[in-house]
Amino acid sequence: MYQPKTIPEIPLPDDIDRREQLTRERIFPRLTKSEAGGGKKAEIFYERLETEFPRLFRTLYHLYGNRYDFYYHLEDLLHRMAGIYSERSPELRARDLNKEKNPDWYKSEKMVGGICYVDLYAGDLKKLKKKIPYFKELGLTYMHLMPFFRCPEGESDGGYAVSSYRHVRKDLGTMDDLEELATAFHEHGINLVVDFINNHTSDRFKWAEEARRGDPDYMEHYYMFPDRTLPDQYDQTLRAIFPEVRHGNFTRVDEIDRWVWTTFHSYQWDLNYRNPAVFNAIAEELLVLANRGVDVLRMDAVAFTWKKMGTDCENLPEAHYILQALNAVASVVCPGLLLKSEAIVHPDEVNRYIGSVECQLSYNPLLMALSWESLATRETKLLAHSMKHRFQIDENCSWVNYVRCHDDIGWTFSDEDAAELGIHGNDHRSFLNRFYSGRFPGSFARGVPFQHNPENDDMRICGSAASLTGLEKGLEDNSSNDIDLSIKRIEMMYGVAYSIGGIPLLYLGDEWGVLNDYSYLETPGKVHDSRWAHRPDLRKGAKSDLVVNDVAKRLTAWFKKMGAIRSSEPVMGNTITRFPDQPDPHLFTFLRGQGAEKLLVIANFSEFERKLHNDWITDQLHAVSYRNLLNGEHRSVHNELHVDPYQILWLKPVSG
Ligand code: GLC
Ligand code: GLC
Repeated sequence: MYQPKTIPEIPLPDDIDRREQLTRERIFPRLTKSEAGGGKKAEIFYERLETEFPRLFRTLYHLYGNRYDFYYHLEDLLHRMAGIYSERSPELRARDLNKEKNPDWYKSEKMVGGICYVDLYAGDLKKLKKKIPYFKELGLTYMHLMPFFRCPEGESDGGYAVSSYRHVRKDLGTMDDLEELATAFHEHGINLVVDFINNHTSDRFKWAEEARRGDPDYMEHYYMFPDRTLPDQYDQTLRAIFPEVRHGNFTRVDEIDRWVWTTFHSYQWDLNYRNPAVFNAIAEELLVLANRGVDVLRMDAVAFTWKKMGTDCENLPEAHYILQALNAVASVVCPGLLLKSEAIVHPDEVNRYIGSVECQLSYNPLLMALSWESLATRETKLLAHSMKHRFQIDENCSWVNYVRCHDDIGWTFSDEDAAELGIHGNDHRSFLNRFYSGRFPGSFARGVPFQHNPENDDMRICGSAASLTGLEKGLEDNSSNDIDLSIKRIEMMYGVAYSIGGIPLLYLGDEWGVLNDYSYLETPGKVHDSRWAHRPDLRKGAKSDLVVNDVAKRLTAWFKKMGAIRSSEPVMGNTITRFPDQPDPHLFTFLRGQGAEKLLVIANFSEFERKLHNDWITDQLHAVSYRNLLNGEHRSVHNELHVDPYQILWLKPVSG
């Protein structure tokens, strides 16, 4: 039985039902039909509000119930919701209704994801639209565009320092271009996924500018301190996210003689969610953005949004309530919208953000990190053990399974899981760091260290899938065998992501085997951030120095094939994933589906051929013969199954 991970309850008053009722009786008569667009349109809004109000009220009560101005801000929020709803286009409202009728849409086998930077992939939003035919060849139905909003010139943390949600970065186009792109995506069956960075704004955001001018209302949008007393106390228990860049989590703002909370870079100011005005302002930005045609918002850095003295200020219960309240707000105004959590934290905590009333989608950092772990050790025990215990989530939700993304790889696994297998967590992390930075004898990887912290010797790893799987080294050594192995590693790792339960995510460029790009070392504003090693300019496509033509062709064909097979096999969609015990320590196996509709996936994480006894396969598939969907080969149960080095098999039982 699946047991959801619960968040610690913040108690609500015993008479919360009555308080809700009173609030309803007081506020609802003050909302007009016309502010929600009038007529039938407004009716739909108010029906949804009736349904969702209990949870909206309760989550906000958790956060702000003890504030003298709670009631005022709640009413303000409802007015804003009605107003933004009234502006939602008929097309998007029809899309909402469709998605409400088909609430499992994102669990379909047809869901295949891709990610890219607008500038680095196409140049601008208009040019990106021209790539739609290629996206379709890859089978993509979910496109995540990296942040394209207005941001400070120079350093902007790859766009994660947003200066306005209402403007696209000038060189990338306009909001109208975004809307056009969304419409074109929708016509071609592609969902638009966009980042929503609600833990912080850039120090050039309107609110920050006003705060810097000393406006007390806007100063309260951020965490501001007159001196180092509290910052020093907080710093004692906080993690350093970018220790190579700076110490501590606070930045001096000379103009107003204050210290401001900055978890990430000094130009990314953390928002003060203790102030309900901030919640309302952010909810408004979110809804206005959704009205542009966004289908999924990737909620950035969700773990950090609430602070409390004496804690690490990560994953606090209120961080969940903020998301739950945003979820409730969205389900009234734009119920087609999904939230996806980006929580790169302990696996227990990752799972706590997943829920139909919180984030319906989540990155799966554990599968990602442990696939790389298995690739280094050639052993799958930690991966298999962890997936067995942690893969299952709320059935109304879905993982987003990735191999690489724009960020570093952190060795996020549970030390307790590792200890059960006799693995010492930190020693193992240190091995993985050495392996992937190419400092372990025999390593095939060419990764780049990220944010080495001399205080605890911690670090993370950057690098493209191709460079991390040995292509860069294979090319340097001119070894066709190593090149071949590297391609197989990429195929196999993505083969797992494409077939395990959830939405697979292709980091565009990986289908060409793009190598690390070291030009960031000569680029001011990038040189201190090795994540740029795997964020290359892809506009030259196959002509880039970072791409080897033959490799690109082979890999692209593989991705197209996987996309096509996956999209036509319902067993890859809305079915469960199980991890039956399996005897070979180098193979990772799982089973999709039930009854006659089944799929057995076998992935070899080693460069040796492995043999798997047919009895075991028959036990899983309950069939006398089966077919590998990836190469069409038929087998019957009389022979032993040979699994080639780094091979992945998608076995489907053949009846009769
Ligand atoms: C997210 C992004 C990362 C960024 C950070 C701060 O984790 O993925 O690239 O640095 O948030 O916004
Ligand atoms: C940390 C954060 C994560 C962020 C990353 C940026 O791991 O937990 O949210 O993406 O740093 O590198």
